Amino acid sequence: MPIMPMATGSTDRRIDKLIHLLVKNATVVVPGPKIASEIGVTRFKVWRWIESLRLLGVEIRGVPAAGYQLVTIPDILAPSLLRAELGDHPIGHNIVHYFRAESTNAVALKLAGEGAEHGTVVVAEEQTAGRGRLGRAWYSEKSSGIYTSIILRPPLSPAAAPVLTLMAGLAAQKAVSAATGLAVDIRWPNDLLVNGKKVCGILTEMSAELDRLHCVVLGIGINVNHSLMPPELENIATSLRMEAHRGISRVQVLVALLREVERSYQLLLRNGNRAITERWEAASSFAHGKRVRVSNAAGETQGTTMGIDPSGALKIQYDDGRQESLVAGEVVEVK
Ligand code: BTN
Repeated sequence: MPIMPMATGSTDRRIDKLIHLLVKNATVVVPGPKIASEIGVTRFKVWRWIESLRLLGVEIRGVPAAGYQLVTIPDILAPSLLRAELGDHPIGHNIVHYFRAESTNAVALKLAGEGAEHGTVVVAEEQTAGRGRLGRAWYSEKSSGIYTSIILRPPLSPAAAPVLTLMAGLAAQKAVSAATGLAVDIRWPNDLLVNGKKVCGILTEMSAELDRLHCVVLGIGINVNHSLMPPELENIATSLRMEAHRGISRVQVLVALLREVERSYQLLLRNGNRAITERWEAASSFAHGKRVRVSNAAGETQGTTMGIDPSGALKIQYDDGRQESLVAGEVVEVK
């Protein structure tokens, strides 16, 4: 049974309605004709979509001549399930869902170019070409992780991009620790680590002129319910489930994330860069006195971290005596 109705393009809003209807009536058997008339499709289409949802792991009981009933509340990042938990704030007001996308960042940049509003969120159950920082790929296993991109239209200059990146990391850290109870560290600029391994990465992309930001896309990937990581990643990456030793609700983590991004973004606009950089310094073991190896265009050098400057750059004291404020690149702890 192909899952084609969901495999290309954004998810049909009527599938979202179907999920919402089943969740709202989770304790009862909902007759097929009632579902069909409420969401405005044929009974055959309802049956086909139910089959497709089952293939995605949603447990739905079919009762002959009576209808359908959800067995468990699905952990699908359906807009209606997310919207029900979010207040009326710009971030998450408009949510575009994909069962499969190449990259939610690519979709978000395209939507932003077409005029999508500030706060629009793109989310996918699976990415076929997930993008990481520094030209890497992002491992995007189906229905296990959160793959989301948030479109921001900040009234700020392009120089604000590094602080927006730190802001996103801070928000993700708060959301993940609140939803899981795990101790989460942030490695500059915005990798989240649990027990020294990466659980979340953020790719910030933007469209700007010299002095004006058109939009910023915060692309956030979180390893949530992966039961193991592929061999090439297992030494450096992990999932929330592997660390917490229990399944984690992706819906709950994503709702917490969107709320925290809204809160941190408002804080940045109201109180300026320092409100973010000071909180970032307090939240990361990488801010001060960490021995690191720095990789950037100039090569690899070892040094010690000396705090974050107000623009969001990481200050490094190199072993050869030089000092630098790092605006791009990557740091790895030296043990
Ligand atoms: C990193 O390399 O650490 C950044 C990874 C960012 C991955 C996310 S997943 C959602 C969004 N869409 C993408 O293609 N990439 C980002």
